[in-house]
Amino acid sequence: MTTTAPDVAAEHVPIDPAILYFGTPVVLLSSLNPDGSTNLMPMSSVFWLGRRAVLGIGARSQTATNLRAHGELVMNLASTAMTHHVDRLALTTGRRDVSPWKASAGYVYAPDKFATAGLTARESGTVAPRRVAESPVHLEAVVRAIHPLGSGPEGPPAAPSQLAVEAEVTRVWIDPALRLAGHANRVDPDRWRPLIMSFQQFYGLGERLRPSRLATIDEEHYRR
Ligand SMILES: Cc1cc2nc3c(=O)[nH]c(=O)nc-3n(C[C@H](O)[C@H](O)[C@H](O)COP(=O)(O)O)c2cc1C
Repeated sequence: MTTTAPDVAAEHVPIDPAILYFGTPVVLLSSLNPDGSTNLMPMSSVFWLGRRAVLGIGARSQTATNLRAHGELVMNLASTAMTHHVDRLALTTGRRDVSPWKASAGYVYAPDKFATAGLTARESGTVAPRRVAESPVHLEAVVRAIHPLGSGPEGPPAAPSQLAVEAEVTRVWIDPALRLAGHANRVDPDRWRPLIMSFQQFYGLGERLRPSRLATIDEEHYRR
C-alpha cells in the first residue's frame, strides 16, 4: 500500500457541467410492477447511513410509479463482473409511454427487464419484488419516505422531476465468498468489487490505498 500527496493544482477553472456524476456504485433496483412482475432499474444515485438508504430517482420512471404504489424494493448491488448485464438495461424503461426526452435519447420500452438483461430472478425473503441472482449483494428494503427534490422556500415544486426515496433495509444477503474470514456479519472490502458509474462510464475500484484511520472504529460500534 502506498500513498502520495497530491500536488496543488496550479490554478482551478470554473466550469458548468451538465451532470455531476463523479462516481457512485451501481445498483439494479427491483420494484413491483402493477401486474406483480419485477421491474429492474439501473441507478447509481444512492448512499447508505445506518440501516437507511437514500436513492435519487427520476419522478417519471416506472420505478417511481411502482414505489409510490407498493413501497418495497431490493437494491441489487452490481459488481464489475456484471457490467455487460447493466449495460443491456441502459436506455430502457418499464414505461410503455416513453417520454419525449427519453425517446430522443434512444430509450425504448422493455416490459421484461430480467430477459432484456439476461439476468435470473430469485424470490426475496421480506419483500415482494424479486432479487437478481447474479448480484453478489441484495439489500431488501421498505420505503419510509419520498421527498420531492428541488424544494425551495416556496415549498416543493408541483411536479418534481426527481425524488429522494428513503428506505429502511429489512434484510441483507451476500454471496458467502464476500464474507470476512472469521466474522459472520462482516463483508471483506478487499473482495467486494463494486461497479462504479462515473460521468456515464463504467469503472471498478483499484486496490486498497493505505490504512484508514476511520477503520480503527470497530464495525459493531455502529450497530443500533
Ligand atoms: C449506470 C446507470 C445509472 C443510472 N443512474 C440513475 C440514477 O441514479 N437515478 C435515475 O433516476 N436514473 C438513473 N439512470 C437512468 C434510469 O435507469 C432510467 O431512467 C430508466 O429508464 C428507469 O427505468 P424505469 O422507467 O423502468 O424505472 C441510470 C442508468 C444507468 C445505465
